[in-house]
Amino acid sequence: MSAEASPPLQPTDLSKQDAAPIVGKKSMDAIMSLCKRRGFIYQASEIYGGINGFWDYGPLGTLMKRNLREAWWQDMIMHPAWGRKGPNGEAVRCVPVETCIIQHPKVWEASGHIGGFNDPMVDDKETKQRFRADHLQGLFIDIGKGVKVTSNGFTVPLRTVVASTAGEAVAQLMEQPKLIKPLELTTATPSESPNVMDVTVRDSSGTTHFGRVFAIPVDALQSNPLEIPSPFTGKAGHLTEPKQFNLMFFSYTGAVFNEDAKVYLRPETAQGIFVQFKNVVDTTRVKMPFGIGNTGRSFRNEVTPRNFTFRSREFEQAELEFFCHPDESQAWYAFWREFRMDWWRSIGLASDNLILREHDKDELSHYSTGTCDVEYRFPFTAPGYGELEGVAHRGNFDLAQHQKHSGIKLDYFDQERGELLPNGSKKGERYLPHCIEPAAGLDRGVLALICEAYTVDAARPSPEFMKFHPRIAPIKAAVFPLVNKDGMPEKAEALHGELSRKFGRQGLIENDAKQSIGKRYARMDEAGCPYCFTIDGQTATDQTVTVRDRDTGTQERMAIDKVAAFIGEKLGE
Ligand code: GAP
Repeated sequence: MSAEASPPLQPTDLSKQDAAPIVGKKSMDAIMSLCKRRGFIYQASEIYGGINGFWDYGPLGTLMKRNLREAWWQDMIMHPAWGRKGPNGEAVRCVPVETCIIQHPKVWEASGHIGGFNDPMVDDKETKQRFRADHLQGLFIDIGKGVKVTSNGFTVPLRTVVASTAGEAVAQLMEQPKLIKPLELTTATPSESPNVMDVTVRDSSGTTHFGRVFAIPVDALQSNPLEIPSPFTGKAGHLTEPKQFNLMFFSYTGAVFNEDAKVYLRPETAQGIFVQFKNVVDTTRVKMPFGIGNTGRSFRNEVTPRNFTFRSREFEQAELEFFCHPDESQAWYAFWREFRMDWWRSIGLASDNLILREHDKDELSHYSTGTCDVEYRFPFTAPGYGELEGVAHRGNFDLAQHQKHSGIKLDYFDQERGELLPNGSKKGERYLPHCIEPAAGLDRGVLALICEAYTVDAARPSPEFMKFHPRIAPIKAAVFPLVNKDGMPEKAEALHGELSRKFGRQGLIENDAKQSIGKRYARMDEAGCPYCFTIDGQTATDQTVTVRDRDTGTQERMAIDKVAAFIGEKLGE
């Protein structure tokens, strides 16, 4: 439940002179259109006009998301951290659980979600639109003739937009230049804070002005709602002051719909782990330190779902709660921060597009001694970044809360600690473990991988293609008979059968004989298939095939009986 992007305020410092030119970036419209065309992601209930904040995965998207989930499962639970030794010098140990979406309502009281899982909301009285108060980003320009200041000393923005980060706000202003007409946004560059963008704008006389984009502080909105321009009309006087709105979806169990029967759809998978902590300790042979992982759907009634699947109302999480002795917790926090960055890189996200952002002190929950976000430069946040995963040091907050609310002791007796006894054994130590939580979003992961993979090259048979890492690619390989005769289809069928038997668990193996070979390559490039094998006239004489590499387009010959080993190696087997 880490708060997302709550920027610090520097409203009056508009004097930054080192802005960089706005750089070209991938088009989100083009990416979304490819996702639809090739069956990665569809709007949920599309034939009924869609439903805001909900998305379905098509065949390729389903395979890809499954690959991402499997990669997380493999690298976090089955072979945690790729066998790296933890700060205690031992291999990392993790076990899985699979917990219910609906839990006892007291779980959410203990976790703080019923009392505190709220977003401050603002309404535009004119247009009837509602948005998150902390998502109101303002463009502040030093126009040189006295900037208007509100009664609490806050500068009035020239324009506002609804966006979760300053980068995303700048992206909107770039896409809709009419919002600040007759001014023109000319440069944007990240500032020392990830939530603030420095910009320059040119007016109609050609003069350049320096400015900044950042979130309007909620307390400024609270005291001056009528002074701030509406993000929908650009006019002041229509905004209400922020009011709290709980993000949990609810339902009722049983036949009677009353308060006693009210239940909630989980807003995070993490709490299922904390409430089963004692059972896992009592029924398995886990020893401190160890992790418990949980993946599955979570639900949040997001007020402003946006940016494709980035902020949805139903999404999937992959969370690990790593329990350890309080004295070791900082070392484990450092360990998981580093591993999670390495992991995202290992499945294909470019280092240039990833940052690890340590939360400022005022962003931290009261119980946390450290939280950082793995952030990715999505096309809609560029040149800024958006959260992909949070890594939080949660202290013993959750176990302490559940212990208090349930009345059940959740402390741990560690036989390997305490003073040495005369018989050579340890006296033992009882403590409430601390917890490090790497909490990833699988839908944001898929989206980041799609954005990263999307490549435009007008010179290729398919001008758009997807450079997926082989581990993530939904189609692992394709087999083509060059022509539909001379025994080629039979050989292709045999190779396709062998590869499907060996790699079918990891993804699709295609067998495609339709249309020209160039069109077949183009189809596979768009789907992100890394290798295509072609059976041609030479295959019958020397038992070789060609292998074409998606990224370079180059082809080599290879013995047909080496193909399976080749793919196995690329998949890291
Ligand atoms: N247990 C901690 C927790 O849930 P969070 O930062 O609120 O922390 C973890 O969520 C991850 O879940 C985020 O980094 C993001 O990837 C994903 N996530 C959160 N809200 C989301 C939403 N509305 N849509 C899609 N993914 C979301």
